[in-house]
Amino acid sequence: SLLVPSLQELAKESNLTVPSRYIRTDQDRLVSISDDDHGLHFLDQIPVIDLQKLISDESTELAKFHSACKDWGFFQLVNHGVSSSLVEKTMTETQNILKLPLEEKKKFRQSAEEVEGFGQAFVFSEEQKLDWNDPMVLTTLPVNIRKPHLIPKFPSAFREALDIYSLKLKDLAICLVEQVEKVLKVKEKEVSRLFEDGLQAMRLNYYPPCPQPEKVIGLTPHSDASAITILLQTHDVVGLQVKKDGNWVPVKPLPNAFIINIGDVLEMITNGEYRSIEHRVMTNLQKERFSVATFYSPSLDSEIGPSHSFITEQSPPKYKRLGMKEYMRRYFQHELNSKSFLDTMK
Ligand code: SIN
Ligand code: FE2
Repeated sequence: SLLVPSLQELAKESNLTVPSRYIRTDQDRLVSISDDDHGLHFLDQIPVIDLQKLISDESTELAKFHSACKDWGFFQLVNHGVSSSLVEKTMTETQNILKLPLEEKKKFRQSAEEVEGFGQAFVFSEEQKLDWNDPMVLTTLPVNIRKPHLIPKFPSAFREALDIYSLKLKDLAICLVEQVEKVLKVKEKEVSRLFEDGLQAMRLNYYPPCPQPEKVIGLTPHSDASAITILLQTHDVVGLQVKKDGNWVPVKPLPNAFIINIGDVLEMITNGEYRSIEHRVMTNLQKERFSVATFYSPSLDSEIGPSHSFITEQSPPKYKRLGMKEYMRRYFQHELNSKSFLDTMK
């Protein structure tokens, strides 16, 4: 993919006019998000799931979880068992690394062949519009696929937080996959088995304030390639919006909650029983926003596609079967654009 300029420096300019490469004309209902909007836009909200109740098989919670996965593809998770001190440390260190001076960041930049590191992925032409976001993508697990020039060279405070956070989120992701398996009555651990030594990647997002927030987009509408995504975000700044019945629903983050969403791989595995949902990020006039999206997927050695538990005579396979490596390779060659990548898997 192509390398893009750093937004960090650009966004610092006073009296900034947003360059045309960031100006969107093709987005429906671009609304700026300010604090005034809170009351207005939050009539409809993504469901809230309590993990402890789910683990203890409380039947109302199991039903709520099933409908959250099926009807929304998105929910907030409370009582998730990850300590707030670890979460806070991870967020603080994320902010520190995303705001390193440009000179420091250069060491960790993407290259033309490699999507990991600072810079936007999925850019394939000079004409393509850019997101108002200065992100960094990293593969984090299994440890042996980490890039030697990235995490091992990061400031130690960030590395320490990341190492623990990455393991805790692996456990949480596996737990969620097991809940899916339980609720959908999957046979013989046919789904969770794929996640032994699963692939974990993170995207650290930095959305600087934008003088014309209604003209740009922080993150292009997309669904995630992962099976499950666990999102941590600046809790007092809104930005994420989820597509529900054709409308964009802003997510108002609860304190101490993770936002969980179903990705394309889980849609494929469940043969469409659970669906990945389109979402996007809007930017803010005054406030910067940070987020850490942790993507959890089957191991790179596994084969993905509809599992036996979801195939019957009445519901034949709706998606291809292919290796995870091939799936990921194709994913990074595809422009981010709603659910168009998943369509190529049909
Ligand atoms: C965010 O809410 O900032 C990120 C959402 C995503 O990774 O899609
Ligand atoms: Fe996403």
